[in-house]
Amino acid sequence: MEAPRIEYDVDGLLEANLAADPVDQFTHWFDEAVQADLPEANMMTLATVDALGMPDARVVLLKEHGPDGFVFYTNYGSTKAEQLAAHPYATLVFHWEPLHRQVRILGAVEKVDPEQSDTYFASRPRGSQLAARASRQSIPVANRHVLRERYEEEDQRWAGADVPRPDDWGGYRLIPGRFEFWQGQVNRMHDRIRFTPGEGGWFYERLSP
Ligand SMILES: Cc1cc2nc3c(=O)[nH]c(=O)nc-3n(C[C@H](O)[C@H](O)[C@H](O)COP(=O)(O)O)c2cc1C
Repeated sequence: MEAPRIEYDVDGLLEANLAADPVDQFTHWFDEAVQADLPEANMMTLATVDALGMPDARVVLLKEHGPDGFVFYTNYGSTKAEQLAAHPYATLVFHWEPLHRQVRILGAVEKVDPEQSDTYFASRPRGSQLAARASRQSIPVANRHVLRERYEEEDQRWAGADVPRPDDWGGYRLIPGRFEFWQGQVNRMHDRIRFTPGEGGWFYERLSP
């Protein structure tokens, strides 16, 4: 069955309305996605490359963003972490429907300070904290029962106490080196604006759709 053709009959992305700083432009669109009640506006595809140059991608959640970069949290022993150790660069892709918007952000990636990871970990629900301790993300596990047992062990171990962040869990920050904002338009005449670093600030140009 063929997918329906969607006509993107919404306002365009015009240079006159563009923020000078792409982080501000992102924040503007992100806030609109949140206001539009999208189920998870902070959901993004994180693309990485492994040691042999093979691309990989998965969805993670954006937890913080600003002039310092774009932060997500994960396991430091996971496949993505191995890939980031081999090539500390990544791309983030957001796709917001029904706003017909896509944002791509490319950049270098570094681990956030342990204190920042501690603060975020402490803010998570206890169940998520226990799961982070119980799961060796991306490592094969015999069955779900084994995983459940590890979770119960952690639960008992930290009964009545704060669950500490495991050393192998924390944040990464992507420091943007390029942005692209895509706004779907009628007749596939989409708007694409790319920001790259220029002299004394960010420089933007319109790309053909
Ligand atoms: C909606 C959604 C949100 C997710 N958020 C995260 C996240 O914030 N951090 C994370 O490590 N994995 C998250 N995952 C799981 C990842 O997609 C992935 O399965 C996991 O991180 C292992 O990836 P890796 O083996 O490439 O390291 C999320 C998955 C989905 C579908």
